[in-house]
Amino acid sequence: MSSVITAWKRLPWWVEPMTIVGVLTLFGLYSTVVIVFAGGQYEEYISPFFSFTATMETPAWAPAFITAPMLLLWIPLGFRATCYYYRKAYYRAFFWDPPACGEDAQNHDQPWRKDKSDYRGERALFVLNNVHRYFFYASIIVVAWLWYEAFRTVFTADGFQIAVGSLIWFVNIVLVSAYTFSCHSFRHLIGGNMNCYSCTKGGNARRKLYNGVSRLNARHPQWAWYSLFSLLITDIYFRLMMAGVITDFKIIGG
Ligand code: FES
Repeated sequence: MSSVITAWKRLPWWVEPMTIVGVLTLFGLYSTVVIVFAGGQYEEYISPFFSFTATMETPAWAPAFITAPMLLLWIPLGFRATCYYYRKAYYRAFFWDPPACGEDAQNHDQPWRKDKSDYRGERALFVLNNVHRYFFYASIIVVAWLWYEAFRTVFTADGFQIAVGSLIWFVNIVLVSAYTFSCHSFRHLIGGNMNCYSCTKGGNARRKLYNGVSRLNARHPQWAWYSLFSLLITDIYFRLMMAGVITDFKIIGG
């Protein structure tokens, strides 16, 4: 793994932003098609894009283009869009602002910027990035529900079973949880906001928790990508089962 990372770092600087543009664009297109046109439940499985909303009716007051998953998906979407890591990634990839470390934005063609003092930071629409911690709070509910749906794949109406699909659902929720709880906002909340652990009741437990979250947080960018790909793979597996292209192989039970 480390040799792959080393080889990746040796590539020209523009490979990373261009790859991010490609991956995020494809993910955006795929998820849009799924939530607008596709179904979300097949036997005991719920697509991760339809979590909680798979059996919901769209409310009568909603415009025709609104589908049930959209009522909830703004939470994980907002959580990722305001994530400190993804912000760095998409500012570089989509806005080239700057395109990479050591690549001054002024070296590139950015006609909207007169000079360096023209940098406006996160204003206008991007000021919403500051509500990241609230998206984190809401995401905890989504993560809890995804855990529930993963357990539903093993404790079914026909009894206990473990299938390839259940394993995929569990791997997905483990990766989504690792991404969610390696969040910088959670790290701050759990102990980063304290000046003195020994001065507070339960301070030692919080220090240990903070150290654990810090270890998870060190790999936050990796969790961000692993969980994005696992969401995609889980949903593709779901669609293939639904279309009858593959049969879910039962390892235990069934
Ligand atoms: Fe990335 Fe919070 S910083 S999810």
